Amino acid sequence: MNQQFVFYQPSMDDGWDVSQLIRACPPLDTNSVYCNLLQCHHFAGTSVAVRKGDDLVGFISAYRIPDKPETLFVWQVAVAESARGHGLASQMIEHIVAREAAQPVRYIETTITAENEASWALFGRVAKRYGAPLAREDLFTKEQHFAGQHDTELLVTIGPLDLTR
Ligand SMILES: CC(C)(COP(=O)(O)OP(=O)(O)OC[C@H]1O[C@@H](n2cnc3c(N)ncnc32)[C@H](O)[C@@H]1OP(=O)(O)O)[C@@H](O)C(=O)NCCC(=O)NCCS
Repeated sequence: MNQQFVFYQPSMDDGWDVSQLIRACPPLDTNSVYCNLLQCHHFAGTSVAVRKGDDLVGFISAYRIPDKPETLFVWQVAVAESARGHGLASQMIEHIVAREAAQPVRYIETTITAENEASWALFGRVAKRYGAPLAREDLFTKEQHFAGQHDTELLVTIGPLDLTR
């Protein structure tokens, strides 16, 4: 049987599978299982999970920035290798934005390292999808914030989003 992708709001019961998926998706930083449980609990309303049959094949953790509630910060995006190239990551972002329609998201922020081509392509596509400009600037820098141990994370801001598109 050809199984479909099912998109849904995660719950605590997804936390363990999320931690396994993140582990299988370098270059994402792995988190403690406890962190993934919090994402699936406190941030569930602005996060999304995707299953194909029993398998968790996609996950985005995101939240509204506390002092900028119109801005959705996308924390991590993970798609299992077997499910890549079908537009799943872009559809997950659209799913969250659509779910939040009652209190519209006007901006999307994320951070990306200069080398992560897949991420740049993904967020470039999101900007196009919503007819919005994409701005970038250094946020967490290699020397100042990561003691030279991690590449600089650039802050990417997309918006204002045209939600009528
Ligand atoms: C990045 C990732 C989430 C993309 O998932 P996906 O479901 O295959 O992405 P989509 O199919 O929605 O593709 C979105 C865009 O990115 C492009 N893209 C996807 N993977 C790419 C890659 N490895 N290199 C270059 N471009 C890529 C697609 O072609 C598409 O662009 P287009 O509309 O111009 O064709 C997935 O590869 C992944 O989990 N990677 C490992 C973890 C990671 O790097 N996460 C991103 C951190 S935000």
